[in-house]
Amino acid sequence: MRRSVFIKTFGCQMNAVDSARMFSLMSSAGYLAAPTLEDADLVLLNTCSIREKADQKIYSDLGTLRRWKQRRPGRLVAVGGCLAQQDGEALRARAPHVDIVFGTHNIANLPGMVRKADRSLPTIALGMDEEMTHWDVVPHLPVGAVSAMVAIMQGCDNFCAYCVVPLVRGREVSRRAADILSEIRALAGRGVMEVVLLGQNVNSYGKKEGEIPFPELLRRISAIERIRRIRFITSHPRDLDDRTIRLFEEMETLCPHVHLPLQSGSDRILEAMGRGYTRGEYLSKIDALRKLRPGIAFSSDFIVGFPGETEDDFRETLSVMGEVRFDSSFSFRFSSRPGTRAAEMKVMVDPMEAAERLRRLQELQAMHTRERLTTQIGREVTVLVEGTSARDPGMRCGRTACNKTVNFTPGSSVGAIRSILVTGAGTHSLVGAERTSDA
Ligand code: SAH
Ligand code: SF4
Ligand code: F3S
Repeated sequence: MRRSVFIKTFGCQMNAVDSARMFSLMSSAGYLAAPTLEDADLVLLNTCSIREKADQKIYSDLGTLRRWKQRRPGRLVAVGGCLAQQDGEALRARAPHVDIVFGTHNIANLPGMVRKADRSLPTIALGMDEEMTHWDVVPHLPVGAVSAMVAIMQGCDNFCAYCVVPLVRGREVSRRAADILSEIRALAGRGVMEVVLLGQNVNSYGKKEGEIPFPELLRRISAIERIRRIRFITSHPRDLDDRTIRLFEEMETLCPHVHLPLQSGSDRILEAMGRGYTRGEYLSKIDALRKLRPGIAFSSDFIVGFPGETEDDFRETLSVMGEVRFDSSFSFRFSSRPGTRAAEMKVMVDPMEAAERLRRLQELQAMHTRERLTTQIGREVTVLVEGTSARDPGMRCGRTACNKTVNFTPGSSVGAIRSILVTGAGTHSLVGAERTSDA
């Protein structure tokens, strides 16, 4: 009987793409996808270590997997991704039932590590030699997918004071443009109409390698037949340049939504974080984008309670939010990560105070999100139909170019681009009805 693998992915889209590669590799090695953990012979945790909470969740899962393994002989546990890279040997010391610990640059040899584990030989593979051989592995694409994520780079050179990513993902490396373009051409041939380009700092794409610049990469992707929508995450506010900004005016395939993590609205805190931009510079890029593409949507990431953050600093963050009125945002309480500069900083914010700031920020964001969604009521929006609505199987769901989820009736087939009249707004999504004509 063929063996099966169950993959659980934590963290960001980078990990999601790596998991899709891991599945491709295991599938070529003869493994099937296990529908549930209980059906699986091999479980693969693709981990994240961005905040302490992520670590705790993974170690708690590993506890459960010890009993899972004991229930049937021959079962294997493999742990990859950022926490595996960070904790390495220590992870196996804490969870000796783990058969394979593999880092973020050690994906390509996964089937070989599994074969060894079958012979009771554990592996710990953590080398960061920057040889990104796993980039040659085509990520598994679910049947009928119309949107796909494409990693264009890996790692980060920014070393923001709080962030563990450069430590666990290594230095920034960009993929060759020719490889990215051929992956996207192949995706388009399989019905994909939207690509989401992934990197920790997409605006510095190719600079180190002397590859074509990011705006040129966007142009070439836009020229690929059948690609109707291009998105990218994440833009760094310091590196988002005029050429890329201008493309929002010229290039229709470039979706009018920019995720631009601000982190803090206080210049003093931005400086301490080592972000490399001021509140004023950030706002002027937002203004420029709004002028060139009216109606463009913005989302952001925020950290509250960074060491030394005062009530006044925090109010600066709220005031930028008031100016921009982000469509949505992710916000987190500062979490001290081993090996980062912020972990050495002495003036800590009281955790209760930080929790209260987070609550205030999220309350303001909820208000802005509601406001941004309700302005859509009565308008016609263009939606790429992605599947069946999670709330109601009789409805379809899709996303607008501005990245808003819309649930609607009746129900065009997946992959259609339709004009939808927005009739209502929920907390995070819109409700609408389909117009008969094609957009
Ligand atoms: N490359 C992206 C962010 C990747 S991490 C960028 O530069 O914006 C995703 C988000 O996690 C960050 O934007 C930040 O808001 C949050 N984050 C990262 N490290 C954190 C920490 N130590 N504590 C709390 N939040 C953190
Ligand atoms: Fe982390 Fe900063 Fe790099 Fe983003 S840009 S991944 S926050 S170090
Ligand atoms: Fe987490 Fe690694 Fe992504 S730390 S957020 S999975 S790059």
